[in-house]
Amino acid sequence: MLYLTGYTFCVSEQVTIKKPFDAHVHLRRGAMLRAITRYTAERFGHAIVMPNTDPPIETLDAAIVYQQEILAAPGIGNFEPLMTLDLTKNVTPAEIERSAVGSEGVKIYGVKYYPWGATTNSQWGYRDILEAKEVLKEMERVGMPLLLHGEVHLDEHDAAVDPYKGEQSFVRDVLPRLLEAYPKLKISLEHVSSGEAADFLEKNGNEGRLVGTVTVHHLLYTREEAETEPMLKVKPLIKNSSDKEKIRALVKKGLPFIFAGTDSAPHPESKKLSPTGAYGIFSAPAAVELYTQIFEELDALDKLENFLSVYGPKFYGLEPSEETITLQKKDWQITEAVTTEDGEKVLPLGNETIHWQVKNN
Ligand code: DOR
Ligand code: ZN
Repeated sequence: MLYLTGYTFCVSEQVTIKKPFDAHVHLRRGAMLRAITRYTAERFGHAIVMPNTDPPIETLDAAIVYQQEILAAPGIGNFEPLMTLDLTKNVTPAEIERSAVGSEGVKIYGVKYYPWGATTNSQWGYRDILEAKEVLKEMERVGMPLLLHGEVHLDEHDAAVDPYKGEQSFVRDVLPRLLEAYPKLKISLEHVSSGEAADFLEKNGNEGRLVGTVTVHHLLYTREEAETEPMLKVKPLIKNSSDKEKIRALVKKGLPFIFAGTDSAPHPESKKLSPTGAYGIFSAPAAVELYTQIFEELDALDKLENFLSVYGPKFYGLEPSEETITLQKKDWQITEAVTTEDGEKVLPLGNETIHWQVKNN
């Protein structure tokens, strides 16, 4: 009996992997940034930082200032934030060229497209990504990845599209046109949330050309759970259990073009719980742990390291982290909200029991 317990412990009760890479995180600015960044920095070696701040990050110079703010946050350790630009109408081909080269040791790793009006601070975006022709051409030329919030939310008559169908429409109507018009453009379809997007990626995904990132929340929850829980309000919306199962099956395959992007997106509790409710789930304090739990459920722990720590940096032309983290199978719960210096509370995902824990060395 004792022998068996010891044996199990070695095989599946502890996992050591290269330090993870978060391909999609929102770190905000100011007091919020100072309160929440440590949760990402403790678990991830690098992260691709989203640019949808207010005002948005539209130039290399603004990204440099933003990166300095992140690096000055408490608990940062040797975490490296990798910066992006927001694809607003102010971004020019010349800025793309300059950003790809970089300045002061900082370069831009990707340009993020938010469909106009679709989510937090998306009021400066193009209605249709295909309108951004000159910028996309330059991105293709310099090898700058396009990061897609892939949802159509207005049809050609400006009528609202069913928000549960927005990603499906994007994948059916927009993505194939983008791929055809820009055959060398590197594209990442962020936060895959539907069976249609999972199918499309499985068929057309390709390292270095078309990749997809997957969140914890789209692997864990269903529409029924999300519709009654304000904390699970997020864009793209959490969909049906058949969508969740397709996304789970996709990550279980261990494909080199599918990797982790938490989309951890904190909002003050007051905004999350207001009648209009802000979109975004703050998952950083438990994301690595929950991905591990999901991969164990999928009997795919052998694929965890590539998904969390190897395929992401590879797409961005980087080596995986040289550091490691160890996770052990041990129940815990997040019991407290994070509080900013302004006294705002931020509630993390994970008030249920989490079965894996990061082991402090
Ligand atoms: O739910 C979301 N929150 N989706 C996004 O695309 C943006 C994010 C945020 O910044 O809050
Ligand atoms: Zn996001």
